Amino acid sequence: MHINFNLPKKILAWYDNNKRHLPWRVGKRSTKKLYYRLLSEFMLQQTQVKTVIPHFQKFTKKIKTLNSLSMCSEKKILKLWEGLGYYRRAKNLLSTSKILVKRYNSKLPKTIDKVKELPGIGNYTANALLGLVYNQPVIALDGNVKRVFSRIINKDENKINFEKFFDLNKSKLFNEKRNSDFVEALMEFGALICKPKDPECKICSLNKSCKYFNSSRKFKKNKNKIIKNRYYNIFCYINKKKQIALTKKNNLGFLNEFNLPEIKDGKNILITKDWKFLKKYNNSISNKKLSINLYYKFSNTKPKSFTWHSIEKNKEFIPSFTKKIFNQVSILF
Ligand code: ADE
Repeated sequence: MHINFNLPKKILAWYDNNKRHLPWRVGKRSTKKLYYRLLSEFMLQQTQVKTVIPHFQKFTKKIKTLNSLSMCSEKKILKLWEGLGYYRRAKNLLSTSKILVKRYNSKLPKTIDKVKELPGIGNYTANALLGLVYNQPVIALDGNVKRVFSRIINKDENKINFEKFFDLNKSKLFNEKRNSDFVEALMEFGALICKPKDPECKICSLNKSCKYFNSSRKFKKNKNKIIKNRYYNIFCYINKKKQIALTKKNNLGFLNEFNLPEIKDGKNILITKDWKFLKKYNNSISNKKLSINLYYKFSNTKPKSFTWHSIEKNKEFIPSFTKKIFNQVSILF
């Protein structure tokens, strides 16, 4: 399917007049470019722009360069990451910064294969970084960008072979001077105009060329999102000071999380001398539906790898998943 109009010209004209001022969008020659782009792309994996902004600002106030990041302890980075969730990203970011500093003289390698070898960097982030940092002719294909292209040609994104599509249209897509802005402009356009629900077609500067807008038979998005059911038992130690014992060791990769053994299914409630059953509830995280059986026991002792945390204090630093557990348990007091 061919694109038959000057897409970069139109999107870039819109972007120049409408882009948001985001703190990681520094000038092309800024010495902070690689560090800011790396940090923001890691933070933006699975997290929205408006949530990321204050965390990015807090992080860059404390750690100012890629080199100083590479010298930080994991403990310090995890502490600064608190509230963003998906803590594996923070660990990968630190490992990647060390590799860039040691092996690549604090630069990003220039080939997609080398960039994808870095911890926590998949196809999307690798392309985004190569485009943003080196102005390479690439498309960073996230959900927003897939939607923009699928609307332009009016075809369900699950039915598009994007590799083939980009190859076919490469002469129409890239523009030596502004590939970097084009990477970002496509994401911005998808987030602000070509939105998933109620796209702003009336004010869209591409609407005359857009097959979705012009077609009376608009494609319908395939909504079959795969939902995985997971079952967990959570065992919660509580003391009389309204504190709960949390551990960093668990199989979901959260910081300060409960001990979470996964179970086959949650129909049967355990009956034990030590643990009392509190309740059953659900918590959805991206495409996983977690069904949780929550147990508790009042105790002044706890396993060694756990630490006590007050239910009342520090609530803003706790992942929402854990907050939900705190709220359930607080009915006991
Ligand atoms: N999502 C991922 N990267 C982004 C960026 N650079 N700008 C806006 N949203 C993004």
